[in-house]
Amino acid sequence: MNLQKAVELLNAGQVVGFPTETVYGLAARIDHPQGIERIFTTKQRPFFDPLIVHVSSIAQAKHLTRQWTKTSEVLAKAFWPGPLTLVLPKSEKIHSMITSGLENVGLRMPDHPMALKLISEVGVALAAPSANKFGRTSPTKASHVQSEFGDEVFVLDGGPCQVGIESTVLKVEEDANGISVLTVLRPGSVTTALIRGALEIENLKFRFEKSADPRQAPGQMQHHYMPEIPLILVEGLATDLSKVTAFANERLPQLPDQVEGVKLKKPAGLLQKPALLNLQTDASLAARELYSLLREKSQSGADHLVLFVDDSFKNENWSGVMDRLRKAASLTVSSAALKT
Ligand code: TXA
Ligand code: MG
Repeated sequence: MNLQKAVELLNAGQVVGFPTETVYGLAARIDHPQGIERIFTTKQRPFFDPLIVHVSSIAQAKHLTRQWTKTSEVLAKAFWPGPLTLVLPKSEKIHSMITSGLENVGLRMPDHPMALKLISEVGVALAAPSANKFGRTSPTKASHVQSEFGDEVFVLDGGPCQVGIESTVLKVEEDANGISVLTVLRPGSVTTALIRGALEIENLKFRFEKSADPRQAPGQMQHHYMPEIPLILVEGLATDLSKVTAFANERLPQLPDQVEGVKLKKPAGLLQKPALLNLQTDASLAARELYSLLREKSQSGADHLVLFVDDSFKNENWSGVMDRLRKAASLTVSSAALKT
């Protein structure tokens, strides 16, 4: 059986592709340094970018942190299994390669039966980043993982991911007065409004911190999730596509080839064939389809992608999708600038 094969590979220190509700992950046992190292080399991921640790129960998570507060308990009960990663002080069970040398570890319980089964069968938590080459679009289908790594990686097929974008990453600390200090390190479908609601019901004292110390939040590169052809974001109302293409032809060649270790998508010759990205009007449906859509449109024969970003995207429900789109884009322009 496939699940048994995955368990055996993991026990032997290999990496395995597996489904979660957000995106497919590339897993290794947290107690197998060779497997952990393989994650980084297979993904061509820099060692400064920490991995999220996946558990199949709250009890398992508690063993992996030194500080499980009431706030963590309430958040875990409200959102697990689900797309919320809690960043907490790590216990000695967590190898420093997993956290890139940081004192904190990201923990989450994925909401996918196959993922939960895999973790419990192995009996040890699994470290897993998204199963894509570093900087590129995350996979939301088993076939995406296969096209990324070929025969190099065994993949468990659990169907298309229902959430479609990576988990919300939330750092949870306590200040001197015992008030929880929360910092969103990566927005996702668990919004600050939902987190607030869950904590207020339990009368917990908390505040949100705006920006994180960049040393405590590595992996937040300016460019990430990049599709195979350049994506151009146009802020404001839709304008003439040919003006967007002309603008991109003027600007793209002047951009650097690489930003923070991620190769920027730039055309070899002049851009000629735009493909318009049409997202669903509902934010969670748009998230579910986002990475598939980016992949499909990149293979449609077009040589660049264009998305018009209007005011409806400003709602917090869209923050996860917008974060990914901004990092996936090679170029952002305002539609007003195109009119001149
Ligand atoms: O939904 C998800 O979170 C997926 C699935 C597979 O669970 N995983 C995922 O992993 O998106 P990855 O490696 O692509 O993104 C992990 C990011 C890091 O780049 C970093 O920004 C943050 O999570 N992170 C992880 N551990 C951290 C830590 N100890 N401190 C701060 N940030 C951390
Ligand atoms: Mg990733």
